[in-house]
Amino acid sequence: MAIKILGTGAYVPEKIVTNDDLAKMVDTSDEWITQRVGIKERRVSETETAADFAVNAAKEAMANANITADELDLIIAATISAENICPTVAGTVQNRIGATCPAFDINSACSGFMFALDTAVSYIARGNIRNILVIGTERLSKLVDWDDRSTCVIFADGAGAMVIAPGEGYLASKMFTAGGDDVIKIPAFGGTSPFYTNEKPAPYIFMDGQETFKFAVNKIVNDVKEVIEKAGMTLDEIDHLVLHQANTRILDFAAKRLKISKEKIIVNIDKYGNTAAASVPIAFNELAKSGRLKRGDTVVMSAFGGGLSSGTCLIRY
Ligand code: ACO
Repeated sequence: MAIKILGTGAYVPEKIVTNDDLAKMVDTSDEWITQRVGIKERRVSETETAADFAVNAAKEAMANANITADELDLIIAATISAENICPTVAGTVQNRIGATCPAFDINSACSGFMFALDTAVSYIARGNIRNILVIGTERLSKLVDWDDRSTCVIFADGAGAMVIAPGEGYLASKMFTAGGDDVIKIPAFGGTSPFYTNEKPAPYIFMDGQETFKFAVNKIVNDVKEVIEKAGMTLDEIDHLVLHQANTRILDFAAKRLKISKEKIIVNIDKYGNTAAASVPIAFNELAKSGRLKRGDTVVMSAFGGGLSSGTCLIRY
């Protein structure tokens, strides 16, 4: 069904914040963060926005795909941390790269890129589409309470992008949502209406880490198995797994419960932390640029997070 990945790109801001830097700001340590989460350092933006990252990731993906702006028929960006609701990130990218196609944003928190990719596949299935630019981009540093050690050590900034075109490579997918705010919640700007009587929520990420952890492990294991079955394949036939970079312990659990070699799972959380919707496309770009990914290889991509939500697909590259 439906797609071929023509090119990938990624962008992260220049500033590196190490665990030792954070230990000077909150009561934490390099040892705790390394052992419990697997992050050593992350990128944090000082001036650039999620839209700025998206433009840079998009330009790299288009150059890699050998596609010009006028050859794009749609741009979809997944984000929860854009500076503006309007213009959208996708609209800003459209303007800055000189494209004229429709462009819109999608929000499904950390699973956002998977929902964006699945939506792009549906557009391609409708026909009359040449190329779609799909982006995941986040500036989570602006949504984090920098006094809260349980979240400020985890979340980070960056973007990843893909150019896709009609092909045969989207073998199966599964999108899932269980709406609710008790496990993860990120309030939007509360407004300044003089008529509102409701209390203004703190504008920070709230996450029940342990509940998220349980949800993540179960969803990754079950959804990965389900999409592979749907495609009529077995786990042995999967060459690479590009999973949401939220915690190395989640990736280790997934490898153990799926009984697959850890070598097949891409790990870059140590360098970039959890970049939500940008996590999977940044990791996919790293795999593609490493030389390990060959045309014809099978790749499972899977992400989970706020919503609660998860999105998983199996592709042939
Ligand atoms: N440094 C030191 N100690 C810490 C830190 C820190 N940065 N953060 C928490 N602790 C302490 C806690 O206060 C607690 O102390 P206590 O025992 O004295 O009360 C102790 O460490 C254990 O806390 P837990 O929350 O139980 O720690 P846990 O081992 O579960 O790790 C973590 C927390 C890393 C958040 C983990 O639960 C996790 O990775 N969860 C999944 C997160 C995830 O997948 N997110 C993706 C979706 S997010 C989205 O969609 C926006």
